[in-house]
Amino acid sequence: MKFLACRIYKDEETVSHRLQQMDMDELSEGEVVVRVHYSGVNYKDALAATGKGAILKKFPLNGGIDLSGIVESSSSERFTKGQEVIVNGCGLGEIHDGGLAEYARVPADWVMELPRGLSMKEAMVLGTAGFTAALAIHRMLVNGQEPTKGPIVVTGASGGVGSNAINMLSGLGFETIAVSGRTMFKNYLRELGASKVCSVDELNLSERPLDKGVFGGAIDNVGGQLLNQILAHTNLWGNVASIGLADTHKFSATVFPFILRGISLLGVSSTNCPMSLRKEIWGRLGGDLKPNKLNKILTEEVALKDVSQVFEELLERKRYGRTIVNCL
Ligand SMILES: NC(=O)c1ccc[n+]([C@@H]2O[C@H](COP(=O)([O-])OP(=O)(O)OC[C@H]3O[C@@H](n4cnc5c(N)ncnc54)[C@H](OP(=O)(O)O)[C@@H]3O)[C@@H](O)[C@H]2O)c1
Repeated sequence: MKFLACRIYKDEETVSHRLQQMDMDELSEGEVVVRVHYSGVNYKDALAATGKGAILKKFPLNGGIDLSGIVESSSSERFTKGQEVIVNGCGLGEIHDGGLAEYARVPADWVMELPRGLSMKEAMVLGTAGFTAALAIHRMLVNGQEPTKGPIVVTGASGGVGSNAINMLSGLGFETIAVSGRTMFKNYLRELGASKVCSVDELNLSERPLDKGVFGGAIDNVGGQLLNQILAHTNLWGNVASIGLADTHKFSATVFPFILRGISLLGVSSTNCPMSLRKEIWGRLGGDLKPNKLNKILTEEVALKDVSQVFEELLERKRYGRTIVNCL
C-alpha cells in the first residue's frame, strides 16, 4: 500500500524534503502502525526539513516530531487496532520516521493512549510545543514557583511554546509578561491571558550581572543575551526555564543570580523526557493545564501536501501560535 509522506533527504551536504509516495515496508521498524490524523509544525520540524538545523541523525527520514492518530495494527498487546494514540519526542522525526506522513510505525514504548480530556486534534494544537511549555511549568512548580514570587516573563511569546505557556500560566493564576518582537500580536497575547505585552526594549533590562528583581521566573524560547538579562532581574528563588534558541544557542552569564539569589536555571528537554513523566504531563494537559484558548492558539490547519510552505514561513517569523497538519 502506498501513502504520502514528507521525506527529508541529504544529498552530499544539502538537506531538502519532498512530498512523496512511499511503501509501508520503507518505514522505520516498530510494533505499532498508526494511521496519522494530525501532526504539527514545530520549530524543530522546520529546522529539520530545511536543513537549517542539524536535527536528523539519519537520512532519508520522514519529518514530524509529534503525531496523533489511530492504531492500524499492533504486535504489542499493549495496543489494539482502533485505539486513539499520540507520540511525541523520543526520537520521532529525528532518528525514526515521524508524524508528517499518512502512516507511522513506532516502538510500542513511545506510544501513549490519547489523554482523557483531549481530542486528537487538540493534542496536536498542543503538540510538542504545548507539551514543552507544560514540562517547563511542571519543573518550575516542583521547584517552588508561586504567583506571589512575581510575574513570569515569557519570551518568543507569539510562537507555539510561548502561546501555550501564557495561556497555561494564566489559568494557574500567574501574572505573565509576554515578550514579543511583533507588536501586531498584542491583542492575541492579551486574549491568551498575558497581563502585559511588551518588546525586549520595553522590558528596560540592564547589562549588569545582577540588578533589581522584577520577575518571579521565566520561560525563555530565544536564548542569548536576553536569557542572561532575565536571570539578572529575577527575584529570590525564582525559576528560569530554558527551552529554546529562536535567537541564538549562545549564552553567557555570571554565577551571581545563582549564588546570591538562589535562582534556578531549569533545563527542559521534550525529546528526552522519561516516559512516566511524559504521561503525567500529558495527563495534566487534558486536565488542569489544558489551555482554555486552544481555539485561538490554532492559527491554521494545513493539508499534508501543503506543509512545505509552512517550514520557511515559521523560520522567517511569519507565523504565530500553532500550525497543525491534517494527514487524513
Ligand atoms: N527544549 C525543548 O524540548 C524544545 C521543545 C519545543 C521547542 N523548543 C524550542 O523553543 C523555541 C520555540 O519553539 P516554537 O515551536 O514555539 O517555535 P515558533 O512557533 O517558531 O516560535 C518561536 C518564537 O520566537 C520568536 N522568534 C523567532 N525568531 C526570533 C529571533 N530571531 N529572535 C528572537 N525571537 C525570535 C517569535 O516570537 P515573537 O515574534 O513573538 O517574538 C516566534 O514566534 C525554538 O527555539 C524551539 O527549537 C525546544
